[in-house]
Amino acid sequence: MKITIAITGASGSSLGLKLLKALPNSIDKHLILSDSAKAVLQIEEQVSIHDDQNIASALSSGSFGTDVMMIVPCSMNTVAKISNGIADNLTTRAASVMIKEHKTLLIAPREMPLSSIALENLLKLSQNGVIIAPPLLAYYSKQQTLEQMESFMVGRWLDLVGVDNKLYKRWGEDA
Ligand SMILES: Cc1cc2nc3c(=O)[nH]c(=O)nc-3n(C[C@H](O)[C@H](O)[C@H](O)COP(=O)(O)O)c2cc1C
Repeated sequence: MKITIAITGASGSSLGLKLLKALPNSIDKHLILSDSAKAVLQIEEQVSIHDDQNIASALSSGSFGTDVMMIVPCSMNTVAKISNGIADNLTTRAASVMIKEHKTLLIAPREMPLSSIALENLLKLSQNGVIIAPPLLAYYSKQQTLEQMESFMVGRWLDLVGVDNKLYKRWGEDA
């Protein structure tokens, strides 16, 4: 399976890195960092890193065959561009490719509160088959630490794109 993870300039870029680390070695991993996310480029994972300005990257083409793309976290700037068909960097271009090819695109929008503009943009994306999965907690999983809270969110995102994981305690699961 080929998975692209894009980290944009919203708060919580550590979540994107955690998600990347949670992916099994069997997955062909590609990472796009937006300019505002590059401060987090301290990575020791086996991953192909793509420059967000390199629109000629393989990820720009449907023929590359990416199975899943996850934008974690996703800024409202990037949400607005994708929902309006703007593809002016590799993240937004690769996302538009996922939509046109009817492939799995997961977006974790991070903003609070959400404006009507952001909500409209997210609705449009959802209506086009994009999975909208914000970084939100569920208290049933009884997380005690920030680490456990992040594992819960990463585990849920992996569930949504069909990657097996045991990162959190599921509803009804014993302690
Ligand atoms: C410290 C910091 C935190 C930010 N947090 C958010 C955020 O949580 N959500 C958001 O939509 N934008 C946030 N922004 C603003 C985005 O970084 C800004 O809109 C940027 O243009 C996004 O570009 P990108 O979508 O290409 O990454 C933040 C900016 C800074 C400097």
